Amino acid sequence: MTTELETRDHDVLVIGAGGAGLRAAIEAAAAGVSVGLVCKSLLGKAHTVMAEGGVAAALANVDDRDSWKVHFTDTLRGGQYLNNWRMAELHAKEAPDRVRELEAWGALFDRTPDGRILQRNFGGHRYPRLAHVGDRTGLEMIRTLQDHGIHQGIDVHMEVTVVSLFTREGRIAGALAYDRERGRFRLFRAKAIVIATGGVGRAFKITSNSWEYSGDGQSVAFHAGAVLQDMEFVQFHPTGMVWPPSVRGILVTEGVRGEGGVLKNSEGRRFMFDDIPDNYKAQTADNPEEGWRYVLGDKNARRPPELLTRDHVARCIMREVRDGRGSPHGGVYLDIAWIKEKMPKAAEHIRKKLPSMYHQFKQLADIDITTTPMEVGPTTHYMMGGIRVDGDTQMSSLPGLFAAGEAAAGLHGANRLGGNSLSDLLVFGRRAGEFAAQFARAHSASTPDAGEVKEATQEALAPFARPTGENPYAVQHDLQSLMQDLVGIVRRQEEMVRAVEGLQKLKARAANVGVTGNREYNPGWHTALDLKHLLTVSEAIVASALARRESRGGHFRDDFPDKSAAFSSFNFVVKRAPDGAMELGKEPIPPMRDELAKIVEEMK
Ligand code: FUM
Repeated sequence: MTTELETRDHDVLVIGAGGAGLRAAIEAAAAGVSVGLVCKSLLGKAHTVMAEGGVAAALANVDDRDSWKVHFTDTLRGGQYLNNWRMAELHAKEAPDRVRELEAWGALFDRTPDGRILQRNFGGHRYPRLAHVGDRTGLEMIRTLQDHGIHQGIDVHMEVTVVSLFTREGRIAGALAYDRERGRFRLFRAKAIVIATGGVGRAFKITSNSWEYSGDGQSVAFHAGAVLQDMEFVQFHPTGMVWPPSVRGILVTEGVRGEGGVLKNSEGRRFMFDDIPDNYKAQTADNPEEGWRYVLGDKNARRPPELLTRDHVARCIMREVRDGRGSPHGGVYLDIAWIKEKMPKAAEHIRKKLPSMYHQFKQLADIDITTTPMEVGPTTHYMMGGIRVDGDTQMSSLPGLFAAGEAAAGLHGANRLGGNSLSDLLVFGRRAGEFAAQFARAHSASTPDAGEVKEATQEALAPFARPTGENPYAVQHDLQSLMQDLVGIVRRQEEMVRAVEGLQKLKARAANVGVTGNREYNPGWHTALDLKHLLTVSEAIVASALARRESRGGHFRDDFPDKSAAFSSFNFVVKRAPDGAMELGKEPIPPMRDELAKIVEEMK
């Protein structure tokens, strides 16, 4: 079988064309270097669109008490103080400018009566902070970035999947990829590479992520020698569809709760009032009337408990289901229709503010959300962990390799606040592009070692030599079930130990998968190649989750249900040992600058 290569040269190669990748590519191109942008799928098809409810930025258009300082402290509290505080600072300070820039590039937003960008409530944000357009904010952002990006001279490589990275003399040198259409290999030589491949949702059975999100970026970075961080922190969004089975996991935006939607169990009770964490008590309403006044904009009212952080809401839903108070299909009820008791023209309002949700439920579940509650349950949505980067430049521990957006770790700590993903990708996509371009200018081109490239192409073609080998889909399916059942929302030592053993067996099976047919549009082959990445990130998740013997943010352990001070001053990191094995370590969180520590103290 031919291992023939097409070679492409770029100063900066951006891998991943969602919001972070597009924003990085735009910035690098604006700096005058040559830029290649690789998309696993078609340009514009990205998980960014699944951030539906809005982009978080302290514009203070709806509540003038908001500021970067409040956004900064909300982000740290949501992340349970494991965040890279420098990233949280830059994010809170720069997000408003990035949103205004997007507006200048043509993005549409809903408006306040006096014409400013409208902002809505979301979990864990003290004030209405999410700039939005109905429930299609991520889609609008992708559209805008794409429209802007295509005029910047960026070379776009669509339906191209990266399988490995190469280093030379201690820095990044290039990437090997295949194109889906012809199954041919493409060698990218680049002075700097930005990984913006999004998350790892396909490692789990129930997920809002589409097929592309198999942890490719985190995996190739790890195998090339970059460090991963916070891999135990996976976000289970509280509200995904649970019925019918074919759509299980599809996102139901938090914007529904931001607009006044409430969660009820089978007894019709708003169970979120049952358990309000101490550190949110002062801000959370203890009765429905006050919560509703907050939704209507009463500045003296406290937020409804449905707007607590995602990790907490997801666990409360799991508790109701476990204790037999769930809905018929294993979820709970999310009711926005109830606002008709409070509002004239409620149905019209719902259709205007939540048009995608209205159509999604009408078309996929035959439910009219203006009259009927939705059935919802947690779905794997986002990865807080990822490639460890420098807070200012986004460069990883491997010189010349940068990461931005969901593929990078740090900003969100143990739990991400909704809407912070979109601002994250704008702020740090821009920074990654800027600093990758700077790096490319300061370094000469280098060429990956021909022997290593050959070895990587042969490894990628190996499944064709085993036509009677195991079916890659079966391995993928078993991996997803294992992660869902043993390393999901509620974790226990003995289950995770079983997961470690199970992953070793799956690794052995993955080494024996076979594919038939030719290389053109061969999804079985592509699934076989994704397995290495899925296994790598899954192994990193389990190793980190076993080591964190406490509960914090997205990581909940039944056997260690409390937060422990012993785990509050470092991040778990995962490195590749010289023999290729995965090695778990700790990186201390540096002390916060005095003026930031003072802000955190004041805001308490
Ligand atoms: O619920 C949502 O609209 C998702 C937003 C996000 O993940 O940031």
